[in-house]
Amino acid sequence: MSISFDYAANQFHLTNGSFSYIIKILENGSIGQVYTGAALGAGRAYPLLDPIPFAGFSNRDDRAAVRFEYPAYGNGDFRRPAFAVRFADGSSVVEPRYEAHRIYAGKAETPGLPATYTEKDDEAETLELDLRDAASGLRIILFYTIFAQYNCLARHVRFINEGSGKIVLTHAMSLSLDLPDSRWNLITLTGSWAREFETGDAPLRTGFQGIQSSRGVSGAQTNPALILRRPAATEREGEVLGVSLLYSGNFTADVEVDQWGIARLRIGINPHTFSWELAGGAMFDTPEAVLAWSGTGLGNCSRQYHELYRNRLARGAWRDAERPVLLNNWEGTYFNFTEEKILEMAAAARDLGAELFVLDDGWFGKRDDDHSSLGDWVPHAGKLPGGVTGLAEKVCALGIKFGLWIEPEMVSPDSDLFRAHPDWAVHVPARPRTESRYQYALDMGRPEIIEYLFNVLSGVIKSAPVSYVKWDMNRYITEPYSITLPPERQGEFFHRYVLGLYDLYARLTRAFPEILFESCASGGSRFDPGLLGFAPQAWLSDDTDAVERLAIQEGASLIYPLSSMGAHVSAIPNHQTGRLTPLSFRAMVSFFGCLGYELDPAAFSGEEREAVKRQIAFYKAHRRTFQYGRFFRLLSPLSGRYASWMVVSEDKEEAIVGFYRILANPNQRPFRLKLAGLEGDADYRVTVWEEGGFSEDDRNRNCGERGGDELMQAGLFLESAHNNRPKKGDYFAELFLVEKTG
Ligand code: DGJ
Repeated sequence: MSISFDYAANQFHLTNGSFSYIIKILENGSIGQVYTGAALGAGRAYPLLDPIPFAGFSNRDDRAAVRFEYPAYGNGDFRRPAFAVRFADGSSVVEPRYEAHRIYAGKAETPGLPATYTEKDDEAETLELDLRDAASGLRIILFYTIFAQYNCLARHVRFINEGSGKIVLTHAMSLSLDLPDSRWNLITLTGSWAREFETGDAPLRTGFQGIQSSRGVSGAQTNPALILRRPAATEREGEVLGVSLLYSGNFTADVEVDQWGIARLRIGINPHTFSWELAGGAMFDTPEAVLAWSGTGLGNCSRQYHELYRNRLARGAWRDAERPVLLNNWEGTYFNFTEEKILEMAAAARDLGAELFVLDDGWFGKRDDDHSSLGDWVPHAGKLPGGVTGLAEKVCALGIKFGLWIEPEMVSPDSDLFRAHPDWAVHVPARPRTESRYQYALDMGRPEIIEYLFNVLSGVIKSAPVSYVKWDMNRYITEPYSITLPPERQGEFFHRYVLGLYDLYARLTRAFPEILFESCASGGSRFDPGLLGFAPQAWLSDDTDAVERLAIQEGASLIYPLSSMGAHVSAIPNHQTGRLTPLSFRAMVSFFGCLGYELDPAAFSGEEREAVKRQIAFYKAHRRTFQYGRFFRLLSPLSGRYASWMVVSEDKEEAIVGFYRILANPNQRPFRLKLAGLEGDADYRVTVWEEGGFSEDDRNRNCGERGGDELMQAGLFLESAHNNRPKKGDYFAELFLVEKTG
């Protein structure tokens, strides 16, 4: 891995031997994008790849380039810019030029923002590139970190006002990249509540295309990432390039294809709801964006993200620790529980082998439904006579750990907190406040509110043996405004909210390093890499239907590792879809994530109880592979009939293949399912987990000793041609265990 500067060519070459990122200082001192793709030899100049000059300005030859690295608007580039400013005189023309650079081992921290990191200096190298607008004194530092082990480039930008006049930032992308052609398909992750992570995939066309959030959170509607794949690229082959933003607020992720077919890719804070005032001497850091590149298909691009985010974005004791199998009471009771019921559920969960009981919404104030009490973080006297302390102690005495749900950022109009501090809720004075789920958001940009929440929540956590916290957030933000900001700084409201949120997360996770935090926002409304920097796992969706979950988990896996996905088995008929799926099918879907159960375990029949015990025991025996193994998507559930996933342990000693028949059809033609990620010259023993739903025939023809090469090149043989033999019916799943024998 290296970052080199070629003085003769004025070129920076960032490479880790697998991929290269090349930029250069153009004649006028601005920075041009030269190349992003498969590794090129280091130590050479690439003049033929130079950004092509274009003619257009009779007196300004120095503006001759079409691929800029961090472009401004106003002097000849008419596309959407990477950044924009407004100076005190109202003008916005800015001409940053190269001034200096620094190359160093490792990676610097970004104050107040989540970021990837290194533990040892040889894991990555960083380039800081200083640009300066001479007329105003605005300094722009472009940060680039290339990782040795991952095909990932982390970028962010720092603005410093070194002049004396006020500068207002109105656009500040984390990453802008001008690609030389637009022969790509654009993949987006979009959706809505309970159907998060739908994948869109369409060819780029001339013009502007992209996604954005202006909801105050990253949102279930749009996840802060874009993936470009060459039209012929598949899961296992072809060139793929992703960008992902470590941010939990309003963002834009877009592509503009211009008249020359150049594709400008941008990701960063949504300029529609942003401005930031830089007084003389002030500094602003954008969130970090991570670009990942793969020459071998989508699967490899995803694994670059999985490994980087699992190993060098997640932090703390839980980063590498096996996550507990939990029982969450939400779908089992909703708000309707008593201490007695909770203890019954916790005891039943313990008997099944679960390690953690999570008490969800409804334990505080007088909260018997969603109409009241958010903000009143005191135990509900009617439900918990001994308070959280009494309940948690009793749960722990049963031999199972205790976890608690909170929704720190919110306040109900019907709450003591709101009655005491109506001005703490986000609102525009003298205008109506929009309620959503009967609640308001607190103005998280106000330090006194963060201080208050830290003290109150620390008090709750300290009052009881709490091992886990689920941090929920159940509304988007309307009437954005902060009564503490002056009129000209209201554009800072949303970003200040996110900074306050990160501050509270940082303080709580630092104060309680042993606690596992799981983030949540009405399911997956804030499932983003920003929060993964604080909470290593997140609740993926309020849709717990196993068939739906196949698509949701598949979509999320484009960027996010299995260790980040809360995946729960719930009761049937499923509460969201009414669908009836076998218990084994539900479990085998949830295994590919952080397994939990979200139902009333005391309601299980004897047979179900025994089955769940076997599920939990199996998962525990293999959870390191499920949570931390390398993940391969073998068959997409989007085809509608089948799905298949595979995890391979880091040492390749074991792998597990999940195969799902979603919908049956008669006289099914047999097919081969090629495995991935094994050692070609190793021997493996293939067995099936006895809880699977498929036929003896499928089992018999696949079990036994097989070569890694055979399993990857020929594969498993599924769905016998003899249609009277396989078990008929929808929603069958089978797990194959593949263990190395030599
Ligand atoms: C939304 C979450 O996604 C659910 O899991 C649950 O915690 C509810 N909120 C509680 O109000």
